[in-house]
Amino acid sequence: MDRLLLSAYVLTLLILSFFSEVNSASFKLVNKCRYEVWPGVLSGANTAPLSPTGFALKPGKSRTLSVPKAWSGRIWARTLCTEYSPTNFSCVTGDCGSGKIECAGSGAKPRLL
Ligand SMILES: *[C@@H]1O[C@H](CO)[C@@H](O)[C@H](O)[C@H]1NC(C)=O
Repeated sequence: MDRLLLSAYVLTLLILSFFSEVNSASFKLVNKCRYEVWPGVLSGANTAPLSPTGFALKPGKSRTLSVPKAWSGRIWARTLCTEYSPTNFSCVTGDCGSGKIECAGSGAKPRLL
C-alpha cells in the first residue's frame, strides 16, 4: 500500500470511529406548532453540555441535535419569547432565566396561560 492510500485509510477509520463514538445518538426536534418555539437544552450532571443550549425553531422547521454516548439531560420547549436586547431575552413559558437565547440551566415548569 502506498503512503497516500494508507493515510486515506487511517483518516477514514478515524472519521468512522469519531462518528460512532462521539455522536452515538441524535434527536430531531420538529416544530409542529403554528407558532415559533424556542427549545432549551440542559445536560445532566457529569454530562458534557451540548451546543447550542437554546435556539429558535419556526413553525414547520426542524433541527437535529447530536448527543454523545451516555448523554442525559432535558430538552423542552419555550414559547412566547422576546429578545429585547442581546442580554435581555425571556419567554412566557419554560423560561430558563439566562437572559439569553441559550440556557445555562433548566426552565420554568410549564403552566397554563
Ligand atoms: C427587558 O426589557 C424589557 C422591555 O424593555 C423591560 O421591561 C425589562 O425590565 C427588561 N429586563 C431586564 C432584565 O433588563
